[in-house]
Amino acid sequence: FRLPDPRNEPNPLYKKGSEERIKLEEALVKLRSQLPVQSNIYYNGQAQASAQSWDQPLPAEHATVFTNYPLATKEQTQAAIESALKAKKDWEETPFVDRAAIFLKAAELVTGKYRYELIAATMLGQGKNIWQGEIDAAAELADFFRLNCNFAAEILERQPPRGADGVWSRLEYRPLEGFVYSISPFNFTALGGNLISGPALMGNVVLWKPSPSNVYASALVYKILLEAGLPPNVIQFVTGDPDTITDVALSHRDFAGLNFVGSSDVFRSLYGRIGEGIAKKTYREFPRVVAETSGKNFHLIHPTADIQNAVNHTIRGAFEYQGQKCSATSRLYLPESRAEEFLTGLKAGVKEITIGNPDKNLEAFMGPVIHRRSFDKIKSIIDASNKDSTLKLIAGGTYDDSVGFYVHPTVYQVDRPDHKLFNEEIFGPVLAVYVYPDAEWSSTLKKVDEAGGGFALTGAVFAQDRRAIREAEDTLRYSAGNFYINCKTTAAVIGQQSFGGARASGTNDKAGSSDVLRRFTSPRLIKEEF
Ligand code: ALA
Repeated sequence: FRLPDPRNEPNPLYKKGSEERIKLEEALVKLRSQLPVQSNIYYNGQAQASAQSWDQPLPAEHATVFTNYPLATKEQTQAAIESALKAKKDWEETPFVDRAAIFLKAAELVTGKYRYELIAATMLGQGKNIWQGEIDAAAELADFFRLNCNFAAEILERQPPRGADGVWSRLEYRPLEGFVYSISPFNFTALGGNLISGPALMGNVVLWKPSPSNVYASALVYKILLEAGLPPNVIQFVTGDPDTITDVALSHRDFAGLNFVGSSDVFRSLYGRIGEGIAKKTYREFPRVVAETSGKNFHLIHPTADIQNAVNHTIRGAFEYQGQKCSATSRLYLPESRAEEFLTGLKAGVKEITIGNPDKNLEAFMGPVIHRRSFDKIKSIIDASNKDSTLKLIAGGTYDDSVGFYVHPTVYQVDRPDHKLFNEEIFGPVLAVYVYPDAEWSSTLKKVDEAGGGFALTGAVFAQDRRAIREAEDTLRYSAGNFYINCKTTAAVIGQQSFGGARASGTNDKAGSSDVLRRFTSPRLIKEEF
């Protein structure tokens, strides 16, 4: 297939007064004036209402409702699955170039006509600043749509090794025999786009349930796909109570694959449910299970590190988007000889962090956390930590929910790396630091591997000494699915750093690569003799 060459969407700078800044500011004002915005369920080619609905408050201003959306009933979820299954044959028989054209066109709509509307929806709904909104809802979303076409083509063009004379062996990458259930998280609008476009490009039909806290921007992504020419029943957009929707999806005989991004705990329960379904022979085939989940990601600083560079990366890794990226840096290891220098730099950097309402102060480095549940969880961790005499408060330790769900960037020093701050995912702007004796580099590497609560998503080593880097790479071989050298644990770029972790962090099928798309195929080998 002659697809356009893979490329990453460039990010405009959004300088004050620039054309893109003015357009984004207009989009924000317009969206604000329309609140609360209404979202819908879509199946059978139409928007569907429901007797029950839910309000998502604005994270930055919880007295204001951001969006209202329907809670799908069991019957509606069932109907959505049936309409997907009805569309299956036509979609599977649609030539790949036509499927790809829809997603390439959608990428143009994302970066053109809908760019500012998507970013504004993500800034308000998810509590992101201008740049976090841009890299997610414009660049990464378009990258997933475009590059998933290239990844799909890589698979479809694969052939088995050459056979003997007079034999023609060919591989046909069929979609799964059923539907794929895609569950997307609140923190990246782009991830919904990835979780549905990958399976759909491989010819699958999809039931899509976005996070209850990312419905409006996700609905916009869905609308864009329809405008780009996606036949309405290929992907069904179902919002509501996750348990209700999941019960129906995982009890269905034609459930063939799960494509999930969310917490490890939720994934554990989904995997258990699927296991029960398998044991009871509920499904026609063994479902494919793909998941990217939680992390407790480390920055490990060697005495030879460029400290200012490591400080800058740590501030960004730990506090950008309020620490709500699965890849966020949450444990930091400092060598005794450089600890004071590092912590002085860290404190100075944290002091400069600005916090604000994303549409009133577009450039504030940090905004609110996503919702009351998340705020309360982080607050209770901070309250307990402030009382814990084994911890030393380095920065922050405060929060304010009088208007929105704001948590201030917080750093604690622990005296032992088996402390819970080194082992439990917080999903907020809380960083824990452990200072190790320089001479104990090798045993510290082992401790890095042992801590982290069993997660193994991302990690980074900062060092100039190549032997130290080599030793870290070796000892930490299984400690992170994405291992970074002299750069932070966040911000993998589609097509450059495929993304995912093993152990308790997921099935490590690598988002942003052909590997994960291959999981949504069921290849048939055809051998013909002449
Ligand atoms: N893929 C996102 C990152 O690397 C989560 O930060």
